[in-house]
Amino acid sequence: MKPLLSSHRKSPLSVSYFVVLAFIVFVALLYSEDIACILFKSPRPQEINDSLASSVPTEKEEEGCDLFEGGWAYDEAGRPQYEEGECPYIQPQLTCQAHGRPDSRYQHWRWQPRKCSLPSFNATLMLEMLRGKRMMFVGDSLNRGQFVSLICLLHRVIPESAKSYETVDSLTVFSAKEYNATIEFYWAPFLVESNSDNAVIHRVDDRIVRARSINKHAQHWKGSDILVFNTYLWWMTGVKMKILKGSFGGDMKNIVEMETEDAYRLALRRMVKWVEKNMDHNNTRVFFVSMSPSHERSELWGGEPGGNCYNQTTPIEDSTYWGSTSKSMMQVLKEVLPRSRIPITLLNITQLSEYRKDAHTSIYKKQWSPLTPEQLANPKSYADCNHWCLPGLQDTWNELLYTKLFFHL
Ligand SMILES: *[C@@H]1O[C@H](CO)[C@@H](O)[C@H](O)[C@H]1NC(C)=O
Ligand SMILES: *[C@@H]1O[C@H](CO)[C@@H](O)[C@H](O)[C@H]1NC(C)=O
Ligand SMILES: *[C@@H]1O[C@H](CO)[C@@H](O)[C@H](O)[C@H]1NC(C)=O
Ligand SMILES: *[C@@H]1O[C@H](CO)[C@@H](O)[C@H](O)[C@H]1NC(C)=O
Ligand SMILES: *[C@@H]1O[C@H](CO)[C@@H](O)[C@H](O)[C@H]1NC(C)=O
Ligand SMILES: *[C@@H]1O[C@H](CO)[C@@H](O)[C@H](O)[C@H]1NC(C)=O
Repeated sequence: MKPLLSSHRKSPLSVSYFVVLAFIVFVALLYSEDIACILFKSPRPQEINDSLASSVPTEKEEEGCDLFEGGWAYDEAGRPQYEEGECPYIQPQLTCQAHGRPDSRYQHWRWQPRKCSLPSFNATLMLEMLRGKRMMFVGDSLNRGQFVSLICLLHRVIPESAKSYETVDSLTVFSAKEYNATIEFYWAPFLVESNSDNAVIHRVDDRIVRARSINKHAQHWKGSDILVFNTYLWWMTGVKMKILKGSFGGDMKNIVEMETEDAYRLALRRMVKWVEKNMDHNNTRVFFVSMSPSHERSELWGGEPGGNCYNQTTPIEDSTYWGSTSKSMMQVLKEVLPRSRIPITLLNITQLSEYRKDAHTSIYKKQWSPLTPEQLANPKSYADCNHWCLPGLQDTWNELLYTKLFFHL
């Protein structure tokens, strides 16, 4: 039988992989401290010096390594891991260079955890591990960006004739035929059922969710071996959430308003309940990607008043920086996810992404509608400070996902 993608039992493949790794570490220690550094040792001092935001205060977990705590190191040669033009799957909303972005430093930052190093991403190894498996991202456009980033990281090692990419309604499927593996994305911005579920026409002003209804979507995820969820931005309307008790298409009278956190909690609990019922403890993995931050107000990082992510070309250096991301919504994640009887691995990408005011698509993307002369005269008025250019920040999210999937870090 093939690898068990479990956090609890090591698969035969990962055991042999670790034997190989142990040997490499041994040889490396014999010959060079530098090589040993690559293999989960502490970063070299000059890497710490290079990195931004690395002065995070020390606390607990001396021997363990929090992958999400660290700083950004500029790595001209090592990043990006693919070129924008060489990945045909990036949607035009994320191809910043093709849309005239003048700078490219945002592509060259590598995440450096404070107490260890990330294993380097090996596309062949990942595909081997995914053999015969179905991996599915479920969520909103930010999760779609991460999905696209992952196939950009993987597709080069697959010959043209042995891969395909297809979208039907809410489901996009990338398949690697020789590996009998698929990596998929399913559009469900609230995870539960909502009036924003149409994969193309979902820009409704008055958002309504059915917080306890998930099967309409989840029937499409059933049977996945690896699930990667996200949901956050669509909840942040600034007003209370409308929860529909009945079903869409009925008289729609039975709507109650609820605090956003309470509605979010209901939806997450529903997702957890589904996971507990449908995912297999031994052979599957479930991830949840924490909130992706926005950079709408430059005052928050001490920039010129009135600005946003537009014209930002460097990361934020203050390691304590936390912008406008809701701490109370984070608190809901903290409360709900650890209670799942099937472990849900949190990819806590919020803090590391908070530093990256430079990594958004800003004005360098395909526009939905033509820009007015007023907008053109004031570019920051139409900058997108939610989504991220590819290649870029989301490749790091996938390096972290890769690490959590296959390494015991
Ligand atoms: C850190 O790097 C800067 C140059 O980037 C250098 O001037 C400084 O001496 C370095 N500090 C240490 C402690 O190595
Ligand atoms: C990547 O993984 C494959 C399959 O395990 C292995 O053969 C190859 O040597 C690895 N490449 C690197 C650069 O480590
Ligand atoms: C391909 O993978 C599916 C599970 O995703 C499995 O049911 C099927 O038997 C596999 N086919 C081959 C030829 O290995
Ligand atoms: C998971 O593995 C354990 C230990 O091998 C076994 O006892 C248990 O029945 C398995 N659970 C499922 C749901 O397959
Ligand atoms: C962009 O920022 C630079 C400083 O980093 C500033 O000199 C320049 O005027 C800004 N450009 C625009 C169009 O705001
Ligand atoms: C994620 O990380 C942030 C800061 O590093 C922390 O404040 C937050 O509690 C973490 N979230 C969860 C759900 O553990």
